Amino acid sequence: MSIPTEQKALFLKEKQGDYTIGPYVVDQPGPGEVLVRVESTALNPVDWKIQATGYFVNQYPAILGSDAAGVVVALGEGVTKFAVGDKIFHQGFFTNRLGTFKQYTVIPAEIAAKIPDNLTIDQAATIPLGIATGAIGLYAHGWERGGAELTPPWQTGGSGKYTGQPIVIFGGSSSVGQYTIQLARLSGFSPIITTVSPHNNDLVKALGATHTIDRRLSPSEIVAEVKKITTAPLQVVYDAISLGPTQEAAYEIVAPGGTLILVLPSLIPKEKATPDKKVITTYGTVHAPEHKALGVSLYQNLTQLFASGDIKPNPVEILPDGLASIPEGLERMKKDLDASICAAKNPQTSRNGQYNH
Ligand SMILES: NC(=O)c1ccc[n+]([C@@H]2O[C@H](COP(=O)([O-])OP(=O)(O)OC[C@H]3O[C@@H](n4cnc5c(N)ncnc54)[C@H](OP(=O)(O)O)[C@@H]3O)[C@@H](O)[C@H]2O)c1
Repeated sequence: MSIPTEQKALFLKEKQGDYTIGPYVVDQPGPGEVLVRVESTALNPVDWKIQATGYFVNQYPAILGSDAAGVVVALGEGVTKFAVGDKIFHQGFFTNRLGTFKQYTVIPAEIAAKIPDNLTIDQAATIPLGIATGAIGLYAHGWERGGAELTPPWQTGGSGKYTGQPIVIFGGSSSVGQYTIQLARLSGFSPIITTVSPHNNDLVKALGATHTIDRRLSPSEIVAEVKKITTAPLQVVYDAISLGPTQEAAYEIVAPGGTLILVLPSLIPKEKATPDKKVITTYGTVHAPEHKALGVSLYQNLTQLFASGDIKPNPVEILPDGLASIPEGLERMKKDLDASICAAKNPQTSRNGQYNH
């Protein structure tokens, strides 16, 4: 397989600047890494937020992109997990070497997984960031950027461990929310209560939600609806939206001694916060040193979890023009916060790009 020395990448030219497509070196895989020809990459809210705010990235021009699926084209020293030609998916990170808005990228083999036969390469590209955020929020340890310290369902004693315990997931139809519902189901939680627009009731119930609440209700109305469904103490509440109103309702319902997992910084007013409710803004990346071990164990199990149908991918929409589609897709996502955009395929392919939901 011939590998070029240079590739095309989508660059954010400068902090809060414009995008441009330009040349970038094809990195060599280091020890334990593989080089992947990216066939599909997913778009996430963080991508437009980086352009809008300048957060997360310090070096420009910058290559963004946190999700990829593609074909292994070279193996670094010591890699036995994959062979050249394997189709794999993995999470990118906020550096030019690991960003996925380019044609080739590298990844440590231990945090990549083979794509099972029942998934398309585009579906696979939409999985990594969403599932990492759900899994780290539920299963990681630590208050700082960690999670609720539950036992993952793929580890000994974890499957069904929380049977009979209720959970509330705000934003069940979001990418993060869909994976969090499915992980909660595998962990045994019941009821699984989630807030969505009514048109997504069937989607989230198919994933394992037992009760849906219209997300357009006010925070106090949502709290009242939850209380009609369960009076058991809510030890775990996951807010996959984490805007002011969802945090307000989520903090209200989490039980003393329980954990509220947020995906954005806490907006809970100091005067309302009580020390007996743990509030964690999770950090959904398996590249973070503190989440590496959980990430490795997740990636050891991801292929089977999707092959068995225990976890299903998000609905996917394909964008038409590869890397060139990404700026417009991100603009659409920014303007339409109700939409969730995923994936643009490698511009070398004829069919390239996808839009989630
Ligand atoms: N901390 C981290 O490491 C981390 C990682 C990943 C993502 N995030 C953040 O998590 C958030 C979600 O990301 P995502 O990719 O999962 O989003 P997404 O897929 O784009 O979510 C879009 C969906 O959210 C739902 N939604 C919007 N407002 C809602 C509300 N008030 N209540 C309930 N549902 C609501 C809408 O569903 P309906 O159509 O049902 O209304 C919409 O379709 C973003 O802010 C993202 O930046 C953080």
